[in-house]
Amino acid sequence: MADDLSLQGRTTILSLPKNRTPAIEVEDLNLWYGKFQALHEVDLVIKSGIVTALIGPSGCGKSTLLRSCNRINERLGYVTTTGSIKVLGHDIYGDDASQIQVRRNVGMVFQRPNPLPLSIRDNVLFGHRLHAERRANRSDEDAMVEQALREVLLWDRVKDRLQHKATGLSLEEQQKLCIARLLPTKPTVLLMDEPCSALDPEATSAVEDLIWDLRGHYSILIVTHNMAQARRASDECVFMLMGRVVEHTATERMFVSPQKQETSDYIEGRFG
Ligand SMILES: Nc1ncnc2c1ncn2[C@@H]1O[C@H](COP(=O)(O)OP(=O)(O)O)[C@@H](O)[C@H]1O
Ligand SMILES: [Mg+2]
Repeated sequence: MADDLSLQGRTTILSLPKNRTPAIEVEDLNLWYGKFQALHEVDLVIKSGIVTALIGPSGCGKSTLLRSCNRINERLGYVTTTGSIKVLGHDIYGDDASQIQVRRNVGMVFQRPNPLPLSIRDNVLFGHRLHAERRANRSDEDAMVEQALREVLLWDRVKDRLQHKATGLSLEEQQKLCIARLLPTKPTVLLMDEPCSALDPEATSAVEDLIWDLRGHYSILIVTHNMAQARRASDECVFMLMGRVVEHTATERMFVSPQKQETSDYIEGRFG
């Protein structure tokens, strides 16, 4: 009930209850691809309901860390992980955690929009149909599609062509659709790996606005190599270097008065 954690956003002030369970808690995480160690002793607490940006030079382990949070790395046979990751207090690598449950709770958006070669409607429903125990009836599905597309601000643009192929949409619309199709399974955490890197500046701005709108409803962890984007569109910022977390703090503070020399070197463009 307490509203002490107020965050001053670009367009909104977000009030969040204190003491919410963190969205993600990473503890002493180490990860190896074969013999190469890509993550070293990562400890990180990602708060619920805010946007956290993950920044750092190419190859520092941002995508690896993100992919660890929904167990996508597992499909590679040669990955070894030690340590733990909890999502909303549940150990996602624990014996009783199911990969399906994890994927349902933790949605992921990639660099290039990757809609399926299906209709707009079927794209939105795909994840739900995959995960649901039985198929919803037509009117429930219609409601689900409308709600998800409204949440990503696409409904008015596509409501008259829901049966059209999703691949015919603009890149901006495709990326919004890729976010929309995560929503029917009611995820709590959205992971986004450079979601604007294939978009032009105008589309980037539209997708950033959307991400900002979703804040509060979802906990969002977004990788970006774009400093301006991290600064504009996140509440907190994590700086990584060579597989380690160097600094994690409020975004404004990270950019105005970074605590570590490496952080200031990076954000001032001295390397990476
Ligand atoms: N599938 C993979 N197999 C082997 N090495 C990988 C794989 N993915 C990433 N790496 C290595 O792990 C390190 C971190 O990569 P990555 O997480 O993609 O960094 P970032 O997203 O910060 O650019 C890099 O040295 C990269 O070459
Ligand atoms: Mg990456």
